[in-house]
Amino acid sequence: MQFTLTNHACPDTVARILETVPGWFGRPESNREYIDAANTLRGISVITTHGITVGVLLIEEHFPHSWEVHLMAVDAAFHGRGIGTALMKATEDLARELGVKLLQVKTLGASHPDTYYAKTRRFYEGYGFIPLEEHDLWGEDTPCLVLVKPL
Ligand SMILES: CC(C)(COP(=O)(O)OP(=O)(O)OC[C@H]1O[C@@H](n2cnc3c(N)ncnc32)[C@H](O)[C@@H]1OP(=O)(O)O)[C@@H](O)C(=O)NCCC(=O)NCCS
Repeated sequence: MQFTLTNHACPDTVARILETVPGWFGRPESNREYIDAANTLRGISVITTHGITVGVLLIEEHFPHSWEVHLMAVDAAFHGRGIGTALMKATEDLARELGVKLLQVKTLGASHPDTYYAKTRRFYEGYGFIPLEEHDLWGEDTPCLVLVKPL
């Protein structure tokens, strides 16, 4: 599939894409935070040849050498076509260019039975992220898995 990447993700697009993946992002209050975050965080988008934005990623720059993928979502109709991989690769390329040494991402841990996030963990691990630890940052019922990738 052919697409282009831009160094920007706008809140309206984040909102539209999150609506396509309710299995992962079904809590309006959390979605609001992600949508608002697009106003301030560095973003990356994937746009098809028809001009439709089908994937977004937001980056939290904690320290000059350590970034976090704050949000990544691909329109459900376009899953499995390399768009998530392209977003991650663009993030890594930019991070390396700017001297970043470590990327992290947080997601739902394997001690929770959710099958949607099991796919997400497979994606991250398939991309080369290493599970670092699972903790209760999001509360006891929502295990938080931290994955890292040295660049
Ligand atoms: C996780 C996500 C970003 C991956 O994006 P994508 O464009 O579908 O991923 P790609 O097409 O680049 O796939 C990369 C690999 O992951 C696998 N994969 C991706 N999505 C998958 C899915 N839903 N189910 C099973 N495998 C999947 C692909 O098979 C591929 O493996 P391969 O390279 O061995 O063939 C996307 O599925 C998504 O938006 N999921 C919902 C939101 C989400 O999980 N966000 C992260 C929250 S922490």
